Amino acid sequence: MTFYTLGIETSCDETAAAVLEGHDTVLSSVVSSQAQLHARFGGVVPEIASRAHVELITPVVADALGEAGIRGNQVDLVAVTSGPGLIGALLVGLSAAKALALVWDVPFIGVNHLEAHLYASFLEEPELEFPLVVLLVSGGHTMLIEMRGHGDFHILGRTVDDAAGEAFDKVARYLGLGYPGGPAIDLLSMEGDPEAIDFPRAMRNEGLDFSFSGLKTAVVNHVRSNPDVDVADVAASFQEAVVDVLLLKAERAVEQVGATGLCLAGGVAANSSLRERTLDLSMSRGFPAYLPSRSMCTDNAAMVAAAGARRFHDDGPSPLDLGADSSLPLLG
Ligand code: KG4
Ligand code: ZN
Repeated sequence: MTFYTLGIETSCDETAAAVLEGHDTVLSSVVSSQAQLHARFGGVVPEIASRAHVELITPVVADALGEAGIRGNQVDLVAVTSGPGLIGALLVGLSAAKALALVWDVPFIGVNHLEAHLYASFLEEPELEFPLVVLLVSGGHTMLIEMRGHGDFHILGRTVDDAAGEAFDKVARYLGLGYPGGPAIDLLSMEGDPEAIDFPRAMRNEGLDFSFSGLKTAVVNHVRSNPDVDVADVAASFQEAVVDVLLLKAERAVEQVGATGLCLAGGVAANSSLRERTLDLSMSRGFPAYLPSRSMCTDNAAMVAAAGARRFHDDGPSPLDLGADSSLPLLG
């Protein structure tokens, strides 16, 4: 019998809904980005995000059901991101999910946004084997995670300061490239020389943790002392430094746990250089690499539905009084 999960994601500035059949068949994935609303402020404005989610959530859910070709009363489970994220933004999705579950008289489950990112790879490669190493690089998090089984995670390393995506966004803002910064740096880097400037690679020899705040400062200092520098060279050299450390540590993690392969996850996993160099590394070191398509790396609701469906079958539903938690950790 078919099992339909409606996923809902509103943790930051994307209003998203998706319909999943079973564990890995995506029937629809609708993402309405608010990036243009926030661009003139140079970053996400929480109050604007919440208000936009309120306006968009109903049409986005309707589109997801329509594209999937099912009616609301055919949904078997409603899965929604309950944290981490912006509290007001999370509450919009959570309230909508609870209301829909009550109306349709179906179970509801709260999903950890980080766990959802981990499940993006499984949507396209359902047969992945454990233990896997996942490099989770998003706007708010940078982690190396060992997945020992479904729902069985072990954090191998994490950033001690800025997340990789945060570094991309801050450097882009400083260089006047606008918001969101990651895609802008990615694009501009294609015209620059990644070896033009030797930016620092922090904590190279120290285990599996990361640090990116010194790199951001190094970029600012370099541009201040070299006002005529080619911005494309700065972007490309900055990106090269980030990707160097991400892959150095990811390779170390794969070796350390004897992983079956390396998965990329999170918005920064959409980065062209990171994707290309992950594939090179996989070829040269002889371990498989799994790169979800770009639209599954950045925030979407298909990954929320996938993580939610899996959790629901293992642990059952969430209580309807579940609250939003802006700093929900991966391991509760
Ligand atoms: O996973 P995500 O969509 O949202 C969070 O959970 O944070 O990640 C957003 C982050 C932003 O910092 C954005 O600049 C970055 O992912 N990003 C990229 C690229 N696309 C998105 N960073 C580098 N290159 C990209 N192509
Ligand atoms: Zn995310």
